[in-house]
Amino acid sequence: MKTQNLSLVYFSPTSTTGIVLEEIARGLGQESPKIFDITRPDIRNQVAPVFNNEVVLIGAPVYSGRVAKDAAAYFKTLKGSGSLAIVVVVYGNREFDDALLELKNIAVDSGFGVLAGGAFIGEHSFSDTEILIAPNRPDEADLEKAFLFGQQIAGVLEGLETPADVSGVEVPGNFPYKEGMGDGAFAFIDVTEDCDDCGICVAACPKEAIDEADHYSTIDERCIFCCACIKACPQQARIMKEGPMKDKAKWLSENCAQRKEPQTYLGLVNT
Ligand SMILES: Cc1cc2nc3c(=O)[nH]c(=O)nc-3n(C[C@H](O)[C@H](O)[C@H](O)COP(=O)(O)O)c2cc1C
Ligand code: SF4
Ligand code: SF4
Repeated sequence: MKTQNLSLVYFSPTSTTGIVLEEIARGLGQESPKIFDITRPDIRNQVAPVFNNEVVLIGAPVYSGRVAKDAAAYFKTLKGSGSLAIVVVVYGNREFDDALLELKNIAVDSGFGVLAGGAFIGEHSFSDTEILIAPNRPDEADLEKAFLFGQQIAGVLEGLETPADVSGVEVPGNFPYKEGMGDGAFAFIDVTEDCDDCGICVAACPKEAIDEADHYSTIDERCIFCCACIKACPQQARIMKEGPMKDKAKWLSENCAQRKEPQTYLGLVNT
């Protein structure tokens, strides 16, 4: 089967998911795939694309052991029409729990045959220069694995006559899924006087949760704690305030320091 029509669909507030997917695409021999980066809210509000006999890489970060909610909601509106999907979750070196199984099931329900799945590691959203959680991941070794995964998939695709020849991939996870993130809002960001009103955090926020006219205020009910604004701020003026979120970051830094490695799963091909 030819892989000319490769598309990437991903949600990636702090960019690690996007980086991993683009490396898998390179392994697949695709330097310029079609990219649907759904991180920005305006993109998620547009009608989702319909795929026809294509290969689609679908990726999202793991939030509390599940697919990030905004990504899951969007992926449920995709139309696979018998296309093949490769599902990828990226997590911050704690666990990916039920997220990969959830993403695979969403893809199947949206009309894709799922050819392969992967769980990769990215720097944790809560990691900063002092509290380190999987810093600088994906690193070179992770990207090499992502590239090899792409090459492996290309090999499987070459032997396929039609997408229907794939009988699906087994991935770890439990159903019913773990509970995941609650909807409770709380303030976890402080803005210091180093803020120079550049507005970069507003553009980085996937939830339109920062007031364009007042960069000091965050709309807590919209915030998903993704930390994109904190990581994007060139003045380091947006910071995590002392409290439960920072305590969680410290806990993760101390208890999830042992390096985890990417896991990949390939589907069976009917002969
Ligand atoms: C609210 C929230 C919950 C998270 N939950 C988990 C988790 O359950 N397990 C884990 O290992 N990492 C978790 N992470 C870390 C992200 O999965 C990880 O940093 C990922 O690389 C972020 O992807 P992105 O760079 O594409 O945004 C969480 C991050 C956030 C913001
Ligand atoms: S990115 Fe930082 S400096 Fe720029 S407006 Fe936001 S908080 Fe202020
Ligand atoms: S305000 Fe909240 S949702 Fe927006 S970028 Fe910051 S942490 Fe993410």
